[in-house]
Amino acid sequence: MADRDSYGFWTKDQWLQKAESIDGWMRPVELKLLFEAAAELPEGARVVELGCWKGRSTLAIGGGLIRTPGVQLFCVDHFTGAPNQQAGASPTTPIENGEAIYQEFLRNTEPIELIRVVLRMSSQNAAAKFENESLDWVFIDASHDYHSVLTDLQTWLPRLRPGGLISGHDYHDSSVKRAVRKMCGQVEVWDSIWYARRNSNRSPIGKLIQWIAGAKGKQPVDTIGSEEV
Ligand SMILES: C[S@@+](CC[C@H](N)C(=O)[O-])C[C@H]1O[C@@H](n2cnc3c(N)ncnc32)[C@H](O)[C@@H]1O
Repeated sequence: MADRDSYGFWTKDQWLQKAESIDGWMRPVELKLLFEAAAELPEGARVVELGCWKGRSTLAIGGGLIRTPGVQLFCVDHFTGAPNQQAGASPTTPIENGEAIYQEFLRNTEPIELIRVVLRMSSQNAAAKFENESLDWVFIDASHDYHSVLTDLQTWLPRLRPGGLISGHDYHDSSVKRAVRKMCGQVEVWDSIWYARRNSNRSPIGKLIQWIAGAKGKQPVDTIGSEEV
């Protein structure tokens, strides 16, 4: 019988430790949220992460997905950074070479290579590769300026299945918040991760939504909140 605590060759805690060891922005509590959300997705789920950098959040999402049959995690990044990173806001060094970041991403995410599909290109070019209503979850953490977030939302929302989940990082960044509110209206916010569901009664990821609702009561997160707009 499969070990309930095992996700591929590691336990949940081991996946999270590995993810935390990768350079990046996502806080440990947020990595845990991503892992747990991914672990609730159904067989055959198709997930897109926009903005992967060196793979910190990617490994958490991938670890949560890995034991579910037929899943795919599409990792979208041009690996040349965002404008704020180029100004030196990166926790490491400013980007000189997208190739070096790309290679580091590949190394760091090797444990999920069986479910990982890397799309080394812009968010807009990647979106053109997906049919409308074909994705279960789109997680947005690419450029954080208002126009970029708005464009990502406008482009990717139609790619979600009815009932699919759209979410992203850094809700407390005012540009992100403004774009998310404009496109999604009411969203839930947990730590700095916001999330919303594409409206439909036919949600194929109802379990995920239940997980979010249920987990609120029992997860030790720093801040929990929801916002009405
Ligand atoms: C904040 S970092 C992602 C951090 C990552 N999620 C983590 O947890 O470590 C933003 C990433 O988005 C990428 N990016 C920014 N704008 C993009 C765009 N329009 N298309 C593709 N990638 C983009 C950058 O290259 C960078 O790697």
